[in-house]
Amino acid sequence: MARKPEGTQDLFGAHMRAWLAMQDCARSVFGTYGFEPFETPTMEQLDVFVHGIGDTTDVVQKEMFRVLSAQNFQRALEAGTEQNLKASKRLALRPEGTAGFVRAVIENNLIPQGSSPVKAFYCGAMFRGERPAKGRLRQFHQVGAEVVGAEDPALDAELICMLMEFYQALGLAKDSTKLLINSIGDPHCRAEYKKKLSAYIHSHLDDMCEDCQVRSTTNPLRAFDCKNETCQEIMKDAPKIVDALCDDCAAHYAAVKHYLDEAHISYTEDPALVRGLDYYTRTVFEVHVEAGLGAQTAIGGGGRYDGLMEIEGGKPTPAIGFAVGFERVELALQAQGIELGGTHPACVYVVAATPEMRDAVFALCRQIRGAHIRCEADYQGRSMKSQMKQANKLNARITVLVGPDELAHNTVGLRDMQTHEQITVPCDAVVDELVARLNDDAFAQANFI
Ligand code: HAM
Repeated sequence: MARKPEGTQDLFGAHMRAWLAMQDCARSVFGTYGFEPFETPTMEQLDVFVHGIGDTTDVVQKEMFRVLSAQNFQRALEAGTEQNLKASKRLALRPEGTAGFVRAVIENNLIPQGSSPVKAFYCGAMFRGERPAKGRLRQFHQVGAEVVGAEDPALDAELICMLMEFYQALGLAKDSTKLLINSIGDPHCRAEYKKKLSAYIHSHLDDMCEDCQVRSTTNPLRAFDCKNETCQEIMKDAPKIVDALCDDCAAHYAAVKHYLDEAHISYTEDPALVRGLDYYTRTVFEVHVEAGLGAQTAIGGGGRYDGLMEIEGGKPTPAIGFAVGFERVELALQAQGIELGGTHPACVYVVAATPEMRDAVFALCRQIRGAHIRCEADYQGRSMKSQMKQANKLNARITVLVGPDELAHNTVGLRDMQTHEQITVPCDAVVDELVARLNDDAFAQANFI
């Protein structure tokens, strides 16, 4: 029997309802901030990620899933390399949404000269070949939001406000989330800082892991994300970028904090927060929860990427965004006893007292569904008793009982499954009676009436 790939999950039932609820919540919260839904392909040209995320990052070097058509795979096998394939034929599953989004903004010319910023959000699957663990999957889902076209620090604060509002709208307790912020400067102040950092790492090189030994020259900032405990200890005393910011970057960071204070958003400054992707500039942030997630405590993160538009082939344009991990938020909510998406939606169940009632049940179901009420019936010739059991299992609020005696009088029975009260109603009044009885908020929401 085939099994799902390691680190992936099937989405159905409560898990699927939770994912849909998160998307609904994003639409509602982000909508008030003027964000429009956006979708990019699940795969992109490999170079979009290599250039955008950075070719020395773990995501690109170790975790990306590569995609080749069968024909191109064969060609690459025969040649012993895929380098002879055109760039457009070398593809990868997206490990994150930002690089592809920026590619789409450029390709569709969404920021012509003098236009307002583009504000967009997306919900979708991302793929990283990480070692699977609790809250760490190879196919996971993100809700992300991006703004391209403005560098105003008020926008950074506004986006962070929106993110924190999103977690609360999903049901996470305010005091269970911790917002970390930092500024990692721009390429100019960072160049000077990288030299200092590199020198520091070199002075501890013998004690550091092999990866960090390479990182010390290729990309010293990435040593902050190293999972090795000794490296982490050493990096605690490393020089911090926030102390090396140029005047402009320092002023930008101060303004972001000012706006966050104005909005009463509490945050912790974390000078070691550098994020795992190379495109970031200036403001970076992450949100963590303490309970329910094991080692993977980050439920979202983001930051400015003022250089990415240019890296991907567009005009220099400032930008900022974040992404939230669905599976981790779901785990955090479960640890707080909250089921995102609610229980199985309520329904009406039409019970046939005898198999001869099948035609009448068929017609009644059509009428009830015509009023946009979720309606179920039996398709397996079950006894009345087991139809009632099934009705309970499907969370029926009301059962409609169709029997020969009732039908002879052109009536049916309606039974309230909570109070067990039963009444007789004329067939042509069933739908009105159901609508009147079910028109409370919970049922209306579950059934879209
Ligand atoms: P990221 O921090 O790599 O940022 O991912 C964002 C969130 O996705 C994480 O905080 C985590 O909740 C979730 N996540 C990441 N990897 C996994 C995994 N293997 N399994 C389960 N959940 C995971 C980005 O992806 C950036 N694109 C965010 C951004 C948007 N920056 C600017 N704009």
